[in-house]
Amino acid sequence: MKVTVLVTGGAGYIGSHVCKALAEAGDKPICYDTLEKGHGWAVQWGPLEKGDIGDKARLDESFARHRPRAVIHLAGYIEVGESVRQPERYLHNNVAKSHTLIEAALRHDVEAFVFSSSCSVYGLPQTDLLAETHPIAPISPYAESKAKVEDALTKVAGRGLRSASLRYFNAAGADADGTIGEAHAPETHLLPLAADAALGLGPALTLLGTDYPTPDGSCVRDYVHVSDLADAHVRALGWLNGRTAGGHEAFNLGSGIGYSVRQAIAETGRIAGRSVPHTVGPRRPGDSPKLVGDVTKAKSELGWSPQRDLVAQIEDTLRWRRQMPR
Ligand SMILES: NC(=O)c1ccc[n+]([C@@H]2O[C@H](COP(=O)([O-])OP(=O)(O)OC[C@H]3O[C@@H](n4cnc5c(N)ncnc54)[C@H](O)[C@@H]3O)[C@@H](O)[C@H]2O)c1
Repeated sequence: MKVTVLVTGGAGYIGSHVCKALAEAGDKPICYDTLEKGHGWAVQWGPLEKGDIGDKARLDESFARHRPRAVIHLAGYIEVGESVRQPERYLHNNVAKSHTLIEAALRHDVEAFVFSSSCSVYGLPQTDLLAETHPIAPISPYAESKAKVEDALTKVAGRGLRSASLRYFNAAGADADGTIGEAHAPETHLLPLAADAALGLGPALTLLGTDYPTPDGSCVRDYVHVSDLADAHVRALGWLNGRTAGGHEAFNLGSGIGYSVRQAIAETGRIAGRSVPHTVGPRRPGDSPKLVGDVTKAKSELGWSPQRDLVAQIEDTLRWRRQMPR
């Protein structure tokens, strides 16, 4: 059955890939975005409702016009470092405004709600692989904002809302059709920065911290292709539709494989055929030394498994960075 889905943050990096995956699955994505960080060119698979998730009247208007049965909520600010410097921005935009959106979803009888959470909610890892049962102990205001929204969704489950928080590990890569990809300003993510440095399209990369308790001293991360992430959202909606009562579940979305920042830089250089110019800098406050996911639950419950490895992610990133609108 064709489902109308309000996709907040649908003009952003991951949101645009989610809109594409929904359209390909036969659903109807409505992109709800301020375009503060997103891009008009990324809205290709349904109408744009330009609006803020904190604007109750604008939300009511959009819900009344399109009558979505589901919401996928990706809108938010995404920079860990900025959240340490300006926590109030994250409390306001990511937490308070998410509450306004959740209230609107309840008012308009939305049945299924999928939230973009993050592996950063786990904080400092107590185990090699992080399962959903790992304690939630955020070490940055950004991560805390994600934990707070998950908590709100758990609390409103009694009102009948079925929700899933998808805890992404590091999203990377770009869609195969070449028309959407990562375009943050400023860009803070490793693979696009490394690709730009290798291609001579950006400055030398700064490696943030080499004294972490990891094998080579740089942070270890789990990279997951954005198109695999998008597929998981479609599956999560299907999973929620199969539920009969309100409730909230969290799912890790990663690859289960960790690569250090140094390894990812070396791999980018190898694939680009040119080394990645880089310098070494201090740690960035709020960063965990290692975040690698146990994705057993998403595999067994959602029938999801990542299809595109780090090499594919780097190849797609290099291709996208050469041709993206700047
Ligand atoms: N990129 C990653 O690796 C990663 C990892 C974990 C979680 N996430 C989460 O996934 C989501 C999407 O991330 P992304 O990388 O696509 O970021 P992005 O910045 O590309 O997209 C976010 C979008 O949200 C919009 N937005 C922000 N505040 C808004 C508001 N108040 N009202 C309406 N629209 C608003 C922006 O304009 C932008 O288009 C975010 O919630 C992020 O925290 C991302």
